[in-house]
Amino acid sequence: MSNAPIKLSRKPQPAEPAARTPKGARTACIRTFGCQMNVHDSDRMRRMILDAGYAEVHSYEEADLVILNTCYVRENAVDRVRGHLGELNRLRREGRVKKVALAGCIGASDESSELQRRYNIDLVLGTHNTYELAEFVGLPTMEETYTPELPGTEGEHSEFVTIMTGCNYQCSYCIVPTVRGRMVCRPMESVLEEVERLVESGTGYVTLLGQTVDAWRHDGKRFCDLLQRVADKAPRVWFTTSHPSNMEDRTLRLIGEKETIVKRLHLPVQSGSDRMLKLMHRGYKSERYRRKIEVFREAVPDGTLSTDIIVGHPGETEEDHERTVELVEDCGFDSAYVFKFSPRKGTEAAELDGTVPEGVVQRRFLEVLRAVEQNAFARNQRKVGSLEEIYIRHGSTEDGKAIGETWSGHAVHVKTDAKPGEYVRARIGSAGPHVLYAGETAL
Ligand code: SAH
Ligand code: SF4
Ligand code: F3S
Repeated sequence: MSNAPIKLSRKPQPAEPAARTPKGARTACIRTFGCQMNVHDSDRMRRMILDAGYAEVHSYEEADLVILNTCYVRENAVDRVRGHLGELNRLRREGRVKKVALAGCIGASDESSELQRRYNIDLVLGTHNTYELAEFVGLPTMEETYTPELPGTEGEHSEFVTIMTGCNYQCSYCIVPTVRGRMVCRPMESVLEEVERLVESGTGYVTLLGQTVDAWRHDGKRFCDLLQRVADKAPRVWFTTSHPSNMEDRTLRLIGEKETIVKRLHLPVQSGSDRMLKLMHRGYKSERYRRKIEVFREAVPDGTLSTDIIVGHPGETEEDHERTVELVEDCGFDSAYVFKFSPRKGTEAAELDGTVPEGVVQRRFLEVLRAVEQNAFARNQRKVGSLEEIYIRHGSTEDGKAIGETWSGHAVHVKTDAKPGEYVRARIGSAGPHVLYAGETAL
């Protein structure tokens, strides 16, 4: 018996990219600050710079062109980008970086012109004109070539597929609809063609993307229909991010039934208090959310559930906060992103009375976080000892640990030399609040 996890299937891997930059080639560095949609936009921009003959580098010092693909959802996202822009200006003065492009959601916001002036940014791109980067790097402008439908780097083991862009909700606190626009759903046939193409070129994992992915509808078809069709074609499928008002029971059941769908649901709740949910314009009450979770737990007993929570939205009382902690305990999330409310200019919540003092926000933040972690830790403990088929997402690091995912959607650190896209079988040896550990226990 060996300690090594057993490799299940070996897909042919694309050749390793050349480690060194070809002499004389122009170089570009892309930094991604935002959500999965933002990551996917970076993929497309990467394709443009590679098509234009640039070599990709990973540090600013080596780059002729730097592209910051930014997020505008909370103020700290903007602060980070300002820090990077300051550093880039220094490098530019030293003659290292030559051009800087600001892309993504800050690019689409009102703040972009101020930033452009202040930091001498050469190119500002919003979220709807990313293809203009093509022209900037010397390719003919090809709006139809670099559309949101196109995958970034075909042949990768795991790919995002955008099925809808924008968002039709108007949550009190949220700037996303302003910078991403109204919802546009892609036709089913176009999604299926892309999935087929990806699978043919070796992609083993397809993630359907959208700000409210489950709101997808087209030609009388709904998200559940599309998910079913995609799950018939791809060996492994996930989707994010969902809105509770759009999540249908039949979708939840499909997750349980269809073996190619990863048993993991990300369903942002934001608050456990009906009063806050109303103020936020979320369109559901806590009870309805809880019912969805019951259906999920019943249909997918081994599944994982994650959520987003905002603490300190204007008007949040101690009682509202307690409702949130209660909901966390009752739903037993396997993980949650907890955010402190950040006022965004132009949103309704930025104008509301009832600002919660910073100290109170901090305490509530820690209380929600603690409730999440205690639950997550207890749930993860139950996985210890189980034998799992693990999909490798990131290859092994220096300490020989790769990062993988079980079919139940748990993140696992596993000792293996398997490559991204491969499967290994290993027993879960121990568990923390955020991750499981495998591969040190004999099978
Ligand atoms: N479309 C997704 C969320 C996209 S933004 C959805 O509706 O679920 C990701 C998360 O950021 C949100 O779920 C919310 O929890 C958080 N968020 C958005 N705006 C915020 C703000 N102004 N302050 C703090 N958190 C915010
Ligand atoms: Fe923002 Fe609400 Fe739309 Fe999500 S559903 S992107 S939180 S407005
Ligand atoms: Fe941020 Fe834009 Fe995504 S604001 S969360 S990168 S859609």
